[in-house]
Amino acid sequence: MKSIVVANWKMHPATFREAKTLFEATKRIAESASRVSIVVAPPAIFLRELSRGYKGRRIAFAVQNAHFEKEGAYTGETSLAEAKDAKAAYVIVGHGERRAMGETNDDTRRKMAAALVQRLTPILCVGERERASEGKHFDIVREQLKIGLADVPAAKLRSLYIMYEPLWAVGSGHPVTPSHMLEMSIFIKKSLVAIYGEGGHGVRILYGGSVDHTNARQMIDEADVAGFIVGGASLDAEKFKALIGAIEGGEV
Ligand code: PGA
Repeated sequence: MKSIVVANWKMHPATFREAKTLFEATKRIAESASRVSIVVAPPAIFLRELSRGYKGRRIAFAVQNAHFEKEGAYTGETSLAEAKDAKAAYVIVGHGERRAMGETNDDTRRKMAAALVQRLTPILCVGERERASEGKHFDIVREQLKIGLADVPAAKLRSLYIMYEPLWAVGSGHPVTPSHMLEMSIFIKKSLVAIYGEGGHGVRILYGGSVDHTNARQMIDEADVAGFIVGGASLDAEKFKALIGAIEGGEV
């Protein structure tokens, strides 16, 4: 099965000209990758122009966040409907950086349900901010799953992704180890089975946090993940090429 890599550009780059250059490089990498699907999540303001200029089928687009209401008096927000109109197919929900800015489990619940109504593929991000006491992060993840998915029916479990990304691993150079990620993948599936029954086993899990060419392949092989969200290594074409090459199992 193909792996998926979401290139989360966050609030980079500063100009559309640079975004276009990065996108051109990403496009070339995507065109020669046969075992990896690439999703680009640019700053929302660049999305429509990038998607309009793209005629290929190898890259899909995502937004890094969106509001659950279709439209309304929400200054500064972008709606899921607007994101879809600009050709986003995916939406990242509850990224750790957004949770750190105040996004709640209840916000993620409303966004997950609204995304599925819009027929966007939501990626629900879960994970602790810090590893405090032993085992506490499992309680945090269980709660994030329980509330975030409260309005998602079992039939939609195949239409979304769960991403485990503890904030301490983001941009830190300290990724979760494959064995700890395997443990977390099993925990996430068990939690979903507790909510949904056997269908919970079928959910697709991603990992995020300091992913690059040195750790991606081992994660795929050993941690039961369907792919990654990649920040830093998606902003540098050489690093991104090496990462995709590593997942592909050779040179791109
Ligand atoms: P990172 O970011 O790859 O730079 O750690 C990942 C993310 O937060 O999406």
